[in-house]
Amino acid sequence: MKGLCTSDFKISCSIFTLLRRGGLNFRRDERLRRRHEGTVLNPATKPLLEVLTSGSAYLQKKGIDEARLNMEHLLAHVLHCRRLDIYLRFGEHLAEPQLGVLRDLLRRRGEGEPLQHLLGTVEFAGREFVSDHRALIPRPETEYLVELVEKRLAAAPPARVLDMGTGSGCIGISLAHAFGRPTVLADISEDALDLARLNVSRLAGSLPVQTVRSDLFEKISGEFDLIVANLPYIPRAEIATLAPEVRRDPHLALDGGPVGTEVVFRFLEAAPSHLARNALVALEVGHDQGVATADKAASLGYTACEVVPDLAGVPRFVFARAPEKAAPPDQKDASQS
Ligand SMILES: C[S@@+](CC[C@H](N)C(=O)[O-])C[C@H]1O[C@@H](n2cnc3c(N)ncnc32)[C@H](O)[C@@H]1O
Repeated sequence: MKGLCTSDFKISCSIFTLLRRGGLNFRRDERLRRRHEGTVLNPATKPLLEVLTSGSAYLQKKGIDEARLNMEHLLAHVLHCRRLDIYLRFGEHLAEPQLGVLRDLLRRRGEGEPLQHLLGTVEFAGREFVSDHRALIPRPETEYLVELVEKRLAAAPPARVLDMGTGSGCIGISLAHAFGRPTVLADISEDALDLARLNVSRLAGSLPVQTVRSDLFEKISGEFDLIVANLPYIPRAEIATLAPEVRRDPHLALDGGPVGTEVVFRFLEAAPSHLARNALVALEVGHDQGVATADKAASLGYTACEVVPDLAGVPRFVFARAPEKAAPPDQKDASQS
C-alpha cells in the first residue's frame, strides 16, 4: 500500500463506484432494450390484453358460453395467478412457451372439453377438489344441497354419514368436515372412487372417511343417521341431447335408466334397512322428478317427505325421514299384552 494516501483511496473508491454503477446501469439498460426488442421484434410474444381479447373471440366463435370468463380462467391457469390478478397484468407480454400451452387449452375448450377438466380443479363448498374425466364435475346446486343438510342437522349432528354415488367425493368430504363424524363414500365406479380417494387424501386430513365400491347398498354394512345421494337421473334417451360439456361426464354418472328415476327409486327401496331411527335422507333429482320422488318415498313408508327448491327455484331436492321400523317381535308381544 506504499504511496497510496487517503485522498487517493477516496478517488479510487469513487471511480470504482462510478464504474460499478455505470456497469450496472449499462447491464440493466441492455436487459430492458433486449426485452423491448424481444416484445417488438419477436412475433412469438403477445401483449396479455391482446391474448385475452383474441382468445375470448375464438371461444365465442366456437359457441362457448361466457367465452371471456373461460378465457380469463385459462389465462390465470397458465400464468399461475388468480383470475382477477390478470387485470393488474395487462401490460405484460406472454412468451411462446406460455402461448403454446394456452393455444392447446383453447383448442380443447373450443372442442367442448369442460373448463374444469382443463383447470384440473373445481371449488366446492370452500374447498378445491380435483376434477377430471373419472367423475361428474361437482355442480353449484349440489353445493347448496350440502349447505341445506348442514343447516338441518347443525343442532344434532348425525353419528354416521353415507354419501351414495359419491363421484369426486365432494358431498361426503364436505359433510365430514361439517360434522366430523364417520363418513362412508360409496360408488359403483372404480374410476370415480379413485378420484374420490385422491380428494380424500388432499382434503380430509385425519377425518374418519372411508370409501367403498358398491352397487347401491350391496357392499354397505350398518346403519346411518344421514344418507345423501346425488345419483344419476337423466332419462337415457336424453343423454345424447345434452350440452357437449355435460356429455363428457361419465355415462354412469348420468344414466338414470329409461325413465330417469330408476336408480333413485331402487335406492329408496333398498335404503330403509341401512337407516337408523329417524335418519335423514337427502336427494338431488332431475328438475321435473321432485314430486314423483317424494311420492315414491311416501309410498315406501318414509315420513316428512318434502320437495325443496334449489337457488334457481327448481324443485330438485327431496328430503325424507326413515320409515318407522317394525317393532321386534318380543316388543310387539309386550305392547299387546
Ligand atoms: C350424478 S353423479 C354424482 C357425483 C357426486 N355425488 C356429485 O354430486 O358430484 C352420480 C354418481 O353415482 C354413481 N352411481 C351410478 N349408479 C350407481 C349405483 N348403482 N350404485 C352406486 N353408485 C352409482 C356414479 O358412478 C356417479 O359417480
